[in-house]
Amino acid sequence: MAKQTTIFYCKECGTEVSKWQGQCPGCKAWNTLVEAPAAPASGKKGAAAQRTGALNRPAALEQIETEEQARLSSGMPELDRVLGGGLVPGSLILVGGDPGIGKSTLLLQVCRNLAAGGSRVLYVSGEESLRQIRLRADRVGKFDGDIRFLCETDLDRIREIMEEERPQVAVIDSIQTMYREDVAAAPGSVSQVRESTLVLLSLAKGLGISIFIVGHVTKEGAVAGPRMLEHMVDAVLYFEGDSHASYRILRGVKNRFGSTNEIGVFEMSEGGLKEVPNPSEYMLSGRPQGATGSVVACSMEGTRPLLLEVQALVCRTNFGMPRRTAAGTDYNRVNLLMAVLEKRAGLHLSDCDAYVNVAGGMKISEPALDLAIVMALASSAKDLPVDEHTIVFGEVGLSGEVRAVSQTEQRVAEARKLGFTRVILPRVSLKRLSGMKGIELVGVSSVAEAMRQL
Ligand code: TYD
Ligand code: MG
Repeated sequence: MAKQTTIFYCKECGTEVSKWQGQCPGCKAWNTLVEAPAAPASGKKGAAAQRTGALNRPAALEQIETEEQARLSSGMPELDRVLGGGLVPGSLILVGGDPGIGKSTLLLQVCRNLAAGGSRVLYVSGEESLRQIRLRADRVGKFDGDIRFLCETDLDRIREIMEEERPQVAVIDSIQTMYREDVAAAPGSVSQVRESTLVLLSLAKGLGISIFIVGHVTKEGAVAGPRMLEHMVDAVLYFEGDSHASYRILRGVKNRFGSTNEIGVFEMSEGGLKEVPNPSEYMLSGRPQGATGSVVACSMEGTRPLLLEVQALVCRTNFGMPRRTAAGTDYNRVNLLMAVLEKRAGLHLSDCDAYVNVAGGMKISEPALDLAIVMALASSAKDLPVDEHTIVFGEVGLSGEVRAVSQTEQRVAEARKLGFTRVILPRVSLKRLSGMKGIELVGVSSVAEAMRQL
């Protein structure tokens, strides 16, 4: 038998090395090298060689069919939006998220809707017994149509069943519990996950089955272990949310069939997940009236504007060292914006504690939130409330200038739709909005100018 060589590769950049070392020679990151699956022993076929379906042949450009395949509707417009208009046959979709966030519930509901719409569905669980699935299914509603459930973790067995049953849609709950016998590693390890995904990939492309793969997220926030899982699938959806709040956000971070960064908003209820068709209204519910340090901002999530409340609390430091925290937004960005306020608007914050929070537990990294954070900080520091019918957005630069952001029209339109009467926005964006009626537009070009609006 040929001697098997072990290869290590970097989770972050993919650099391969023959010997394990602490630091990746490619990207210089520490502790990112993991063992790659052993090369298949001679005589045995690897996953790639066992592809199902017809042999591929090179094709000329005009021989390739361009007809758009009919997409399946998941029966949930919020999910269809994230998928780019429905489920593409033969696609492989990774659904990631913390344990208990509702991945199994979401996919069970999707299966139910698809089966009711006439699709043949197979739900494979490696985590729960059939009884547990039944109990959850009873909470979610009535099931009709061609839907089967299977408890199995052996992927080769699952492949046989799929080849026999030929479902149109399948769910693999979760990839970390699946294993292939000829890979000598524990389920959930990098090699098992990679090999298992390869099998599912060949099933999806070979038999045209749309497969949802559930993946757990590690503490660092990556789908457990291998980032390469993201490269192998057609779409990556993350299910996120605050464990204390009932709403859940489904975020598309990769999509070969549509735009990314679309979000779908759901609410966890007694009877499974319910869609939230108007998230801005939902995010703003319970907003304090006339409080200082509270500002409504507008962030774009894909093509959808989302209004949310940014809160700041600034108070004098009791101990020598000022404390700053940022929840739902970048901590360093908050520090930077405080420095800008200090230097460019003459607001003394160096001996103040500051706490910034995006209400509702949303995580926003868009720079358009800058101006709202600045206004919230200034409002709290000066004890002056911001008018509650005003929304604020704009990027703030290091010179204290307020810079343009994308999709201004949509943001303003959303504010108007929700009954806001005034928008504070970058002055340079005013030109594009000359046709906008029914809402007062206040253009500002610097942080100091924005503070005068308090
Ligand atoms: P689950 O789908 O099992 O999460 P995951 O697969 O991501 O680990 O979701 C479990 C949580 O959802 C659990 O805490 C119970 C809650 N839940 C409801 O509140 N209502 C429901 O109808 C269902 C089915 C679950
Ligand atoms: Mg689950």
